[in-house]
Amino acid sequence: MTRLIIDTDPGIDDAFAIALACASPEVELIGVTTVFGNVGLAHTTRNALRLLALYGREDVPVAAGADRPLVHPHAHRSRHVHGEDGLSGLSGSLPERRTGVAGTDAVSLMVRLLDESPEPVTIAPIGPLTNIALLLAAHPSVQSKIERLVIMGGGLSGGNMTAAAEFNIWSDPEAARRVLVEESVPTTLVPMDMTMQCSVDGAWLDQLAASGPRAAALVGLTATYRTHYRSALGRDGLVIHDAVAVAEAIRPGLLHTTAMPVEVDCGQGPARGMTIGDRRAVEVRMQDTPREIDVALTADLDEVRQFLQTRLST
Ligand code: RIB
Ligand code: CA
Repeated sequence: MTRLIIDTDPGIDDAFAIALACASPEVELIGVTTVFGNVGLAHTTRNALRLLALYGREDVPVAAGADRPLVHPHAHRSRHVHGEDGLSGLSGSLPERRTGVAGTDAVSLMVRLLDESPEPVTIAPIGPLTNIALLLAAHPSVQSKIERLVIMGGGLSGGNMTAAAEFNIWSDPEAARRVLVEESVPTTLVPMDMTMQCSVDGAWLDQLAASGPRAAALVGLTATYRTHYRSALGRDGLVIHDAVAVAEAIRPGLLHTTAMPVEVDCGQGPARGMTIGDRRAVEVRMQDTPREIDVALTADLDEVRQFLQTRLST
């Protein structure tokens, strides 16, 4: 049984990721922490509570974390992709959760959950990495209780928010560099290079919506997101980036990874937030090259789509 914490900025693909964790018997979802990102922290926190209520999970503690990046102000959110409230304007259509947020902040909740866990915990950050950077900086002793980080973020062949940078990294590059480069926690990075391959089409979504009331509600949240991806992909469909990453956390090895150092551009120029994967042979890399992390670049795509469809059909 994998004990799992999700750090998230729901967000429509985050919603699929949270649903996937709730519907997967291999994992025990022991906590959800929220961060600014797709929309502001108040909305991401409200959405996390309501999504857990949709899946009947009053037991999972929720705590809010950072409402802005570590260093530089960053006003941009992704309302044009996820809607003003982060869920296509339909957050209010989801059930209210009787159990509100935990009486603590995200980092403190993660520290408590890690300390209390009898075994190491997998953490799946699927938003900006601000909370994770703060956790590891302020509480280095918890590293031994982290099985691995499974992070949705980055793009080795370009970005989605700029030509160079993917949204989660672009939202807080300094935090991303702390986590991906300077820390030593075992890390699997699931970049856009992987998630974009796993796009699903309208028929896939229609099949999911027909599988049950919760799945229908989940697909019902995708309106704004589906419109955005109709332009981005040039066809009816969408990319549930975060669910692909959480699928790897649930089923280790579902995605095929390559070990490589990944640098993060923290400059203020056009490449800010760019993730640079070093695929050169070890022998030719400089001595001060960053540590290697496992980067997911390939998978059996039909297997991934079938896993997601099967698990989310409730
Ligand atoms: O670039 C995709 C990532 O940015 C996903 O986590 C999505 O939810 C947004 O946060
Ligand atoms: Ca996200």
